[in-house]
Amino acid sequence: MKIFIDSADIEEIKQVYDWGIADGVTTNPSLLKKAVDEKKSDDTDLKSYIGEILRASKGTPVSLEVTSKKAKNMVLEGVMLYRNFKSYSKNICIKIPVSPATKEDSKVHFEGIKAIKELSDRKLNVNATLVFTPEQALLAAKAGAKYVSIFVGRMDDYIRQKNGLKASREEYFPAEGIAKEDRMLEDDGVVSGIDLVSQCVEIIKKHGLKAEVLAASIRNKRQVREAALAGAHIATIPFSVLKDIIKHEKTSEGIKKFYEDTPEEYKKLLQ
Ligand code: E4P
Repeated sequence: MKIFIDSADIEEIKQVYDWGIADGVTTNPSLLKKAVDEKKSDDTDLKSYIGEILRASKGTPVSLEVTSKKAKNMVLEGVMLYRNFKSYSKNICIKIPVSPATKEDSKVHFEGIKAIKELSDRKLNVNATLVFTPEQALLAAKAGAKYVSIFVGRMDDYIRQKNGLKASREEYFPAEGIAKEDRMLEDDGVVSGIDLVSQCVEIIKKHGLKAEVLAASIRNKRQVREAALAGAHIATIPFSVLKDIIKHEKTSEGIKKFYEDTPEEYKKLLQ
């Protein structure tokens, strides 16, 4: 499973590439807003800042999201993003919401799929985002998306919310779901964010589709393991979770003892 960093913070991105574990970067408008707000005192313009992210990513894929709702405008924005940033990196991936419809504007449901098809036909790499059902994943993959981003943590939040369960953002949600009063809590046959990943992986493999399943909206390290076990091709992981996945108390305890026990003569052999 490839590991992407889910961040628009240049220092975090550089750090994770320095660790040698990053295969790509995903951003979204909210992550960019956070980065922009945090660098207010800085006089770097946003174009140069994104350029710095692209350089730091060393030719691996970086997803940048469009903001329009009509397919035609999403395609124009996607082409513009590619043109504006191709001098920094050729590996730009255009992030398109699988459906840009909102309650206020419900006539644009298929505009995302149309844009995914058009951009993919033009040989631009597309990351279909905000995927919450296996059917959305199937349509995005059929339209030619290179990546299909499944929102694991947000699906767990939604199942909790529908059932009046309160939990902190990082709290673990079991991959196999939660039973309450003899029934499984679910959303249209999906019992957890990781279950959604499994169902999408199965459909994509069963039908020989080329899209890679990208587990996004990851909230804790156990979900990274479960995304890998579910067969996700990629997990995009926030910096806080990436820092956490290497740790274990017994590893630290073991290394302390090994350092203490090392014979002086052996240390000299290593110099
Ligand atoms: C990445 O592609 C997604 O936009 C991101 O993982 C969403 O994460 P969140 O649900 O924590 O905002």
